Amino acid sequence: MPVISFATSKGGAGKTTSAIILGTELAEGTDVIVIDADPAKRLTRWSTLSQLPPRISVVTSGGERNIQDEIAQAQSKATFVLIDLEGSASRLTSFAIAESDLVIIPSGEEQQDADAAIETLAEIAMEGRARRRTIPAAILFARTSAAVKSKLEKHIHAELRKAGHVFETELHRRTAFSSLHNAGGGLRQLDPADVNGIDKAIINAQDFTSEVIDMLEGSRNAAIA
Ligand SMILES: Nc1ncnc2c1ncn2[C@@H]1O[C@H](COP(=O)(O)OP(=O)(O)OP(=O)(O)O)[C@@H](O)[C@H]1O
Ligand SMILES: [Mg+2]
Repeated sequence: MPVISFATSKGGAGKTTSAIILGTELAEGTDVIVIDADPAKRLTRWSTLSQLPPRISVVTSGGERNIQDEIAQAQSKATFVLIDLEGSASRLTSFAIAESDLVIIPSGEEQQDADAAIETLAEIAMEGRARRRTIPAAILFARTSAAVKSKLEKHIHAELRKAGHVFETELHRRTAFSSLHNAGGGLRQLDPADVNGIDKAIINAQDFTSEVIDMLEGSRNAAIA
């Protein structure tokens, strides 16, 4: 059962939010366990705000000594295991990356995000070398504006496309996405009276989810070939 981690050394890039979006979207159709492996426990906090959708549950990691067992146990119970990581390199982060079938690296459109994404790609490659396998990784533009890109933003996109695989879908900066941290639950549980643009946010989340599934299938086929 696939393990998908969210990693980047840039704080606030969108790891936790993107994990919540993917987790709740996948849980529309199957069982999902999200492991909160960030000592700041923001994803655990989200899970306590309201009743979670039925097919998603959250495990708060007990740290680097426990993470491997936590992943194995989650894999035996759920179809997808997602791991929200902290923003700095640690043994816990390395263990989680080593167990991952896909590492998603959220990035904004500023140079600092791009530098952190490239550094994170290098860490994943090193981890892969140590484990003698290629660990699939992809950059996800998050918190981006839906407007036409500036020259700097185009430059950042080109730089990251040269560095690694980039998701075609961007998770735009949307109130519906940031509201999840207040309301808890998934996009479908948000109240349209309180939050604008839920429908567009759901379509955006679905596009992202489909691309993740295609990517996992693509890397599985590559491994078989
Ligand atoms: N696509 C988005 N649209 C709107 N707001 C977003 C989006 N992604 C993230 N945010 C907001 O940006 C802030 C930081 O996001 P998030 O907590 O997901 O980042 P992170 O990478 O997990 O940070 P940390 O490194 O501190 O764990 C949050 O307040 C969140 O609501
Ligand atoms: Mg986080």
